[in-house]
Amino acid sequence: MKKNKIFIACDSTNISKIEKIIRYTSNTELKIGYKFGLEFLNSKNGRNFVSKLKNKIIFADLKLHDIPNTCVSAIKAIKDLKVNYLTIHISSGLQALKDAKKVSGSIRLVGVSILTSLDNKELKKIGFNKDVKKLVLHQAKLANKAKLDAIVCSAQEVKIVKKVFKKEIITPGIRFNTKADDQKRVLTPNQAFKNGADWLVIGRSITGQGNIKKNMIKLIDHLER
Ligand code: C5P
Repeated sequence: MKKNKIFIACDSTNISKIEKIIRYTSNTELKIGYKFGLEFLNSKNGRNFVSKLKNKIIFADLKLHDIPNTCVSAIKAIKDLKVNYLTIHISSGLQALKDAKKVSGSIRLVGVSILTSLDNKELKKIGFNKDVKKLVLHQAKLANKAKLDAIVCSAQEVKIVKKVFKKEIITPGIRFNTKADDQKRVLTPNQAFKNGADWLVIGRSITGQGNIKKNMIKLIDHLER
């Protein structure tokens, strides 16, 4: 049977917490990757820690959002880390995406669409009047045009994205229950896979509350239902 693929969001500045997350989440029933974002990679020892990881699928969630030249330079600057996936905001613009893709080499360049922490009401506040689903569809077309390798969207938009983007789809905003924290567009792991997500990103539902090992068992049980 094909293994479900999960990126565990390693969101902490504490190296021993990150070591614990990696130790307790690796298992044989799922394909696990590790996502390091702005918090860990900007922490004093975070980058060095990632540089020493061996035989892991590594996702650098840097969420680049800048002018083309700076995005390109940032990608060149992170190359020594040998990460497998790297994010750039699709709203950086088509030129930035195309230029970034030219230098990303073997790193899979992942376009981040509208953040899962935003809903229509929040989008209006920052001046976007289109419905979130229309915006994500629009951005997925742009990601396709720039030949990006993967896209990040909420699990609620996977079916829409799939119409125009045929490569990997990665979905954060995953929750077992209605406690969404700061996330707005959430679904359960089963719903996300059912919609066609290739990878789920799960952070606090595994690493936040309670025992990480028990939370992993809960996830595996949930996926077997
Ligand atoms: O704790 P939680 O499961 O909400 O963590 C989600 C992770 O995915 C965080 O590391 C967050 O930065 C990241 N992410 C997201 N929404 C996006 C892109 C990335 O939540 N659109």
